[in-house]
Amino acid sequence: MNPKLTTLSLTCALALAACGGDGADQQDTTAATTPAPATAPATDTTNANAGSVPGDGMGTDAGMATSQDPAATAGADAAPASNKPEATVTNCATTIQGDDAMQFSVGSITVPSSCSEFTITLEHTGQLPVAAMGHNVVVSQASDRAGIATDGMAAGVDGGYVPQGDARVIAATELIGGGQTTSVTFPVSALQGGGPYEFFCSFPGHWAVMRGSIQVG
Ligand code: CO
Repeated sequence: MNPKLTTLSLTCALALAACGGDGADQQDTTAATTPAPATAPATDTTNANAGSVPGDGMGTDAGMATSQDPAATAGADAAPASNKPEATVTNCATTIQGDDAMQFSVGSITVPSSCSEFTITLEHTGQLPVAAMGHNVVVSQASDRAGIATDGMAAGVDGGYVPQGDARVIAATELIGGGQTTSVTFPVSALQGGGPYEFFCSFPGHWAVMRGSIQVG
């Protein structure tokens, strides 16, 4: 027998055993059904890994890349997050939380139409100081949110990032840091005009993501 042919046959047989049949089918199925998480943080993580020295530092770099840059999302202007729960309302008042991860605890507040006034209390459950992770609750027409926040930057942290005497502002709490609590009370009739209305944090960069809908129901 031709020794070359024999070798070729052996190679083919090994190759078939190694990657043919059920094994290949299973791999294909797995790849096809695994969703590709094409999100911005995933891309950032990949870049951070590629640029870092292999070893223990990789995990740290990736984590920082996904959490350190809230300003990167400041331009986003999608609808308010709908994956957050509705606020619990008792006696014409609600208490919501803001945290060090730049998140409100609720995505929607429904004010009972039987209330003449409504109170929103904000608890900052984080630890960061007001200058770094300040939160407030500002209520306005949704279409006024960006304008209020942009004009509020001139007020600075001492002015709570809210323009003083601005008629677009229906209600605004103080700007607080971690561990602090604040509240604001306003007439419900202020939410019975055109709408839609939103509540948001006017801290620079936060107003793009820390927001939700508020309506009389
Ligand atoms: Co904030």
